Amino acid sequence: MSDKIKVALIGVGNSACTLTQGMGYYSEDDSRNGLWHKVVGGYRVKDLELVGAFDVDSKKIGLDLSEAIFSKPNVAEKYLDLKPLNVEVKRGILYDEFPHHLKNSLDVDAGEPDDIVDALKSSKADVLVNLILSGLDRTSKAYAEIAIESKCCFINATPSPIASDKAFVEEFKEADLVVAGDDLMSQFGGTAFHKGVLDFMHGRGIKITRSYQLDVGGGTETLNTLDEDIKFMKREMKTRAISMELPYEFETVTGTTDYVDYMRNKRTSYYWIQGDGFLGSPIMVDIYLRTSDGPNAGNILLDVIRAVKVAKDRGEFGAPSEICGYGFKNTLKPVKLKDAHQNFSLRYIG
Ligand SMILES: NC(=O)c1ccc[n+]([C@@H]2O[C@H](COP(=O)([O-])OP(=O)(O)OC[C@H]3O[C@@H](n4cnc5c(N)ncnc54)[C@H](O)[C@@H]3O)[C@@H](O)[C@H]2O)c1
Repeated sequence: MSDKIKVALIGVGNSACTLTQGMGYYSEDDSRNGLWHKVVGGYRVKDLELVGAFDVDSKKIGLDLSEAIFSKPNVAEKYLDLKPLNVEVKRGILYDEFPHHLKNSLDVDAGEPDDIVDALKSSKADVLVNLILSGLDRTSKAYAEIAIESKCCFINATPSPIASDKAFVEEFKEADLVVAGDDLMSQFGGTAFHKGVLDFMHGRGIKITRSYQLDVGGGTETLNTLDEDIKFMKREMKTRAISMELPYEFETVTGTTDYVDYMRNKRTSYYWIQGDGFLGSPIMVDIYLRTSDGPNAGNILLDVIRAVKVAKDRGEFGAPSEICGYGFKNTLKPVKLKDAHQNFSLRYIG
């Protein structure tokens, strides 16, 4: 592999913070603990290069990305000191209203947006990663259009319908581009863990009757989720992702329950699963899991960015189901967790 994969980020929040640190950390030495896949489609982490960043928070605009990722209201942990990246955070676009209770956290810059198409074209960005807050549907769609105009592939970590929207996928296909999304699935977090336990119980012959997963966490995105509309939209999406894990219907509920500011980027997920064993004997599982949101996004983003570039190079335009199923909760072709990983591995790993 000779060329670097040039990556631009929209939304310099907690996921962007840990992704940026992860790129620095594993570029130096990819035998360090914590990296899931060293090589994806022939690319290593050191083959990634950050070339652009956009946000609407005046506390971040104008700063070098290495500094902006540690600016308030970000709460993701600092794992290493980064040298300046020579990527200045530029002003993005905003076509939606933020929920009222976020107004004290975000300091929206009132200036004119920078010319994002020009910035992406002149930096020759290959992949644009959408990491803005959830619920900003018009804005996320506009960023997807900007990606197409700039000849950039697009990764949508937000729940806004882009890669799960057939018309959008067609637009990317016609432009010979790849799109992946929607709603990132954390590596070892809420949805993936819940799916994994259900699959294990089902595989051991237990008939699942009910389950729930309740989350509390810190960070701006969790605060954002207190908005009733966003909360129910995310809850519906997560519940749908869980429901398809079993070949029969069962009652399940999953979603973020509350925001606890001092938890910062940490999250506690409570799982309760009920099933029937031999002779209908009751089986009950109570688990709680403690993770950090930013790091939980890191490996998946590193893998998806590399896979998207590989798919583009191979001419697999549109929304490849192997990438979407592996990295995201809401996809055109829903897939079980184990199959998703296998499909992705067969196509992109090694
Ligand atoms: N493990 C995870 O972190 C995870 C898992 C699933 C989904 N996601 C999704 O990833 C996205 C990012 O999550 P996060 O925790 O980093 O959020 P965050 O709140 O920490 O960061 C969001 C950033 O986007 C910026 N922003 C808001 N509107 C913008 C706009 N119009 N243009 C440019 N920037 C804008 C904010 O100023 C902030 O810097 C969310 O949509 C979330 O649902 C994350």
